[in-house]
This record gives sequence, structure tokens and C-alpha cells, in this order.
Amino acid sequence: MSNIGIDSIAFSTSKYFFALENLAVHRGVEFGKYSNGIGQLKMSVFPSNEDIVTIAIDAAQKAVSKIEDTSSIDLLIFATESSFDLSKAAGIYVHHFLNLREDCRVMEIKQACYSATAALQLAKSFVLQNSASKVLVVGSDIVKYSPGSSGEPTQGGAAVAFIISADPRVLIIEDGSGVHTNDIMDFWRPISESEAIFDGKLSAYNYLKSLEISFARYLKKTDRTISDIDHVCFHAPFGKMARKGARQIRWQKSIDNTLIYNSVIGNSCSASLYICLLSLLDNSPDLANSRIGLYSYGSGSVAEYFSGIICEKYKSCITPEKNRRFLESRHKISFEEYELFCRNQFPLESETYENAGAFQLKAIENKRRIYTCKGSIHVRRNMSPIG
Ligand code: HMG
Repeated sequence: MSNIGIDSIAFSTSKYFFALENLAVHRGVEFGKYSNGIGQLKMSVFPSNEDIVTIAIDAAQKAVSKIEDTSSIDLLIFATESSFDLSKAAGIYVHHFLNLREDCRVMEIKQACYSATAALQLAKSFVLQNSASKVLVVGSDIVKYSPGSSGEPTQGGAAVAFIISADPRVLIIEDGSGVHTNDIMDFWRPISESEAIFDGKLSAYNYLKSLEISFARYLKKTDRTISDIDHVCFHAPFGKMARKGARQIRWQKSIDNTLIYNSVIGNSCSASLYICLLSLLDNSPDLANSRIGLYSYGSGSVAEYFSGIICEKYKSCITPEKNRRFLESRHKISFEEYELFCRNQFPLESETYENAGAFQLKAIENKRRIYTCKGSIHVRRNMSPIG
């Protein structure tokens, strides 16, 4: 048995949000349907100068700022289903802005919302083979549905970044998990489309069925019972789905603390499960040595239930106040601005980029994306590479 796990973790999202109270008025729906029926209050929305790369760099910068130096990172895995390029991995931009070593491998990985968990498990295997190495995993997605569709109030987006190492300070990833894969058309986005196509009811059914199967496999493989688990984080396309998941496996304890961040960010696909983990870490009094169950689901579909043990000194590696302030400092937009965001025509001529994050997409010239950083980037790099 290894101790490999998450050594540091951070997230980022757009500096703009749209209140679902406002959406409800314009869609002629009772706000109670969104707040209680679906479990969402706000959604992150993205101006045209923010994308999966800009928020990924921001999250990755925060995650690496919590480690001694970046010279032991020799693999970066970027997990996303919102990719804009079929060849170049979006992680290469992250590698550039973080000034990672030239001999650090970079790759992109996809399987809907499951992809960051696939990356986490691959990273764990990599560190098992290379115990001095660290792996930077970034999950970054922006979720868009057609205006007026049933999925609209569940839109959102965020990036999460975590470092996997042999000597983690946040969460030890335990061996043994339950996996379930089945070929189903519940949610997909053909290359030609900017918005996902989905069958809401089928996707909810398959999420729950896959949970039941993968959880049973996890228990059997690990020889544990449900009472061996202290908390559970569920993939949260919207809060109510996670609550239905809890009911499906007869989970009796509260999952409220896992859903605080998600309720004001919306679905962030690959990042979602790990934002629930961060929300739990930031909003619970003391979790040291607790076993956390994690349910990852990606439409299409692949599901995995696995678990981890919270490290003794995890509190020294989390920043709850900073995370709350970051979410509270976001800029609220009007319905008119929201409509422009949907058409990707922001900013209005009278607006400036001043509310956007530090990393921005400055231009697309000859189909080349050009990114900038407003301030200086703080990463520590020991110039003598290992290995
Ligand atoms: P809908 O069909 O508009 O909603 O969309 P509904 O009519 O089923 O109502 C939802 C709930 O609100 C119901 O409660 C209503 O009773 C309640 P439930 O029966 O579910 O407990 N309600 C009210 N409550 C309080 N006050 C009121 C009120 N009115 C109604 N006034 C749906 C819901 C989830 C289908 C939609 O949001 C959707 O299609 N979302 C997109 C797909 C999705 O998120 N699927 C989740 C599972 S798949 C997944 O997780 C993967 C994913 O993340 C993608 C990936 O892997 O990449 C999506």
C-alpha cells in the first residue's frame, strides 16, 4: 500500500456570475425550482477573454504556490471536455506560464466529467513508478447549454489543479476502487457544436445506476462497509443530483458542506468533484484522518467510486478564507450582459476587461490563441532538474 495522494489543491473560476434568481424571472420559472428543485443559486459565466486555459493557469499557479518548488513536476495532465484544439494540449499553455521544466511531459485527457479522475489515477500510477516525481493535474471546463433549455440553470465552469506526490499533505488516495463503464448517449458534444446535447432524464438515471454499481464494486473490492466512510463527495452537475446520489446509496450523513461552492459556480464537469472536495475541506471544522468517499461520473459513460484519507496536517495546505473571498469578489452581471456572454460578444463597447482574472486570452490571430498575464507570476523553481 502506498501513501500517494494530493499534496496541494486549488481552484479558479470566472470573475463573473449570473444570479439564477434573475434567470428565473426571465424564463418565467419559480426561483424555488432552481434553488430547491435543482439546488443552484448562481452560475459562473465567461467573457470572451476567459477560457479553460486562463482559469486553468490561475488554479495551477495557486496549487504550485503551495509546494516548495516546481522542479520535481515532470508530468502535467490537463483534463477537459471543453477543448478548442484537437491537436495541441491546452496544458502546454499552463506549462509555459508556470515556467515548468522543458523535460516535463504534457498531455490532455478526455472522458466527459470523469477525466480529472482518470488523470488522478494515472498520476498515482506514475508516482508509484517514479517516487521522486510530482504530477500536476488540471481539470478545466466551461459548460454551456442552449438558452431556455432545461440544462440552462446548471451551466457554469471552473478549473481545479492538484499536485499528486508520494508524500501528500492533503489526501492519501487509497488503493481499490469500483469502476463502471457503459456506452450510452446521455450527454455529448459533437466537434461541430459549441453546446452540449443531452437527455436530462437519461443522464440522471445513468448517473444513479452507475453510482449503485461502482459503489457496490468499491465495497466488495476493499472489504469495507458504508460505516467505514466518514464523508462522501459526489460529482455535482447540480446540487440536487448529488443529493439524489446520497439517497441512492442510503448515505445518511449531511453532504451540505460539499455543495457550498458548487451552488454558486454551477457545473464545472471535470473540476466538479474536486470543487466539492475543496468545499468540504474549507467548510468543515476538522477532517484529519477521516475517510472520504469520492464518486466521479462522466457521461457517455465512465463512473468510479474511490476513497482517500485526509492527512493529519491538511489545514496548513488549505486557504478557506481566500477561497470564500475569491468567490464573493466576483462581478454580478445583468440579464442583458448574460445574453451577450451567451453569444460570446463580451465585452460591451462601454465595458473594459478590468473585472476579468489575471490571465486573459488577448487575441486570436491567424487562429493562434495569444494569452497574457496582468501581473507577475509567483512560482518557485529550483533550476537543477531531477532525474
Ligand atoms: P427539468 O426537466 O427542467 O426539471 O430539468 P424537473 O421538471 O425534473 O424539475 C427538477 C426538480 O425541481 C424536480 O425535483 C421538481 O419537482 C423540482 P425532483 O423530482 O428532481 O426531486 N421543482 C421545484 N422545486 C421547488 N419549487 C418549485 C419547483 N418546480 C419544480 N417551484 C434536469 C432538470 C436535470 C433534467 C436538467 O437540469 C438537465 O437536463 N440538466 C443537464 C443534464 C444533467 O445535468 N444531468 C445530470 C447527470 S449527467 C452528469 O452528471 C454528467 C454531466 O456533468 C456532463 C458530463 O459528464 O460531462 C452533465
